[in-house]
Amino acid sequence: MDGNGRWASRRGMPREAGHRAGVAAVRRIVHAAPTLGIRCLTLYAFSSDNWRRPAQEVSSIFELMRAYLRLETRRLTRSSVRLKIIGRRDRIPEELRREFERAERRTFRGLALDLRIAVDYSSRDAITGAAARATNALCGTEPVSSELLRDRITETLFESTGEVDLLIRTGGEKRLSDFLLWECAYAELWFTDRMWPDFGVEDLFAALEEYRHRERRFGGLATPTANHASSPMGGGE
Ligand code: IPE
Ligand code: MG
Repeated sequence: MDGNGRWASRRGMPREAGHRAGVAAVRRIVHAAPTLGIRCLTLYAFSSDNWRRPAQEVSSIFELMRAYLRLETRRLTRSSVRLKIIGRRDRIPEELRREFERAERRTFRGLALDLRIAVDYSSRDAITGAAARATNALCGTEPVSSELLRDRITETLFESTGEVDLLIRTGGEKRLSDFLLWECAYAELWFTDRMWPDFGVEDLFAALEEYRHRERRFGGLATPTANHASSPMGGGE
């Protein structure tokens, strides 16, 4: 979700105003996603590298997250959205961390959409963390085969997120910025110059439309069914 700051600067407003407008876009997109056939949506809200920003901006982003969760949990529950926050928790201010836990608890039964919000997230961190946990769990006195270790690492990584089908990046940048690197192995990439606060349901629809016509081969050869059989729009053209 890139472009909040530039969206605001272009309007002569402080960056914080851009982040606030970004929250409105989150509401819009989360609400629309299940109606477009999306079952899992991960939003990259705050990367581990975003700690480099001025403390005031960081705390205003956290405050917006807290307010969003406070106000939105009931609506998420009603819409059957299950929320999960991914990323490190140990550096998140206590009050916000409690809000994460509360929202996750309340939305636990949601079946319509798996909504994941990445906060203090770094993909490299997730990968090395999974490797370390798997190694710890398996390496006692007995030697462990590297196949078993590899399986366990894969399993641990997939615990938090599945395979990414479509990655959307707003704000005109064309990079992954340490986001779900492992899970994006075969992701289709879609870039737009639209700043996140301006990102609308019609943009999401356009991305899905293009995705639908991409041919995903996963290293294999083309098949006549291509993408249409597993359309994110629920099929049925
Ligand atoms: C994305 O918008 C929001 C966060 C990273 C929290 P930016 O803050 O990156 O906006 P730009 O890139 O400066 O426009
Ligand atoms: Mg940016």
